[in-house]
Amino acid sequence: MAELPAALSLFSLQGHTALVTGASSGLGLQGFQCLARAGARVIGAARRVEAVQSQAQSLVAQGFDAHSVAMDVSSAAGVAQAFAELDQRGLVADIVVNFAGIGLNNKWRNNQEAQWLQLLQTNLLGAERVSQAAVQRLLAHKRPGNIIQVASTLGLTVQPSVSAYASSKAALMHLTKSMAMELWPRGIRVNCLAPGLFRTPFTAQFEQEHGSHYFDLSVTRRMGEAPELEGALLFLASAASSYVNGIVLPVDGGNHLRGM
Ligand SMILES: NC(=O)c1ccc[n+]([C@@H]2O[C@H](COP(=O)([O-])OP(=O)(O)OC[C@H]3O[C@@H](n4cnc5c(N)ncnc54)[C@H](OP(=O)(O)O)[C@@H]3O)[C@@H](O)[C@H]2O)c1
Repeated sequence: MAELPAALSLFSLQGHTALVTGASSGLGLQGFQCLARAGARVIGAARRVEAVQSQAQSLVAQGFDAHSVAMDVSSAAGVAQAFAELDQRGLVADIVVNFAGIGLNNKWRNNQEAQWLQLLQTNLLGAERVSQAAVQRLLAHKRPGNIIQVASTLGLTVQPSVSAYASSKAALMHLTKSMAMELWPRGIRVNCLAPGLFRTPFTAQFEQEHGSHYFDLSVTRRMGEAPELEGALLFLASAASSYVNGIVLPVDGGNHLRGM
């Protein structure tokens, strides 16, 4: 195979270990596969561990270094247990991508406190818990690292019927910036991806019910396809972004410019 031009080698993840939460489905699964193909040892995490296991096995069969772990990010015990298992297996991640997330479509006046709590436990505290556990280990090993939070353009713009979801993602953006300032001196960068509307199981119902109306109003006239997130993910995960810290990177074809 021809040698990559020097600039492209900046995107190589050889020698890195990447933990990807939400790796059982959709964008997280795409990210899991992408980081493996870029040369990282990858660890996929989700509650449906069998789904991640079979994806990891398929990557291993293709010659990549892939692992899986059961993790429920919505509970402190779930995250602690998963990291204890990774410790035992000698797996220390220096790249963490927090894809695990859930949605909630509700008019604001119908929001229930239990729904709010479940959403925050997963989307905000889940990312916080995984980041804390990973950073503790990096600091203990005196190793540099890279955390990527996955928010949504709904954290930048305002839409009806997603008040709790959008608020959880806006909070994640603030968390990113605060962590980025604190952790840079320790050699750890923290950035945030903000996908727009991508075709995944998460958005299937929305596409069916509102797709054509959305496409009429949007800049792009279509949804994103999961592989279209790979370039931005790889940029943030790799040395290509070595002087990038605390940013929120929208990946949505510019739809947020129309408030979408
Ligand atoms: N698709 C979009 O248009 C879009 C747009 C903006 C942002 N996002 C964000 O991108 C992320 C992935 O979305 P997606 O579209 O790929 O959705 P998806 O296909 O529904 O995948 C969600 C993933 O999160 C995991 N997850 C949910 N709750 C979890 C928990 N308590 N513990 C561990 N893992 C959990 C799920 O795994 P298990 O069920 O196996 O645990 C699954 O792997 C989410 O954070 C979402 O908010 C998506």
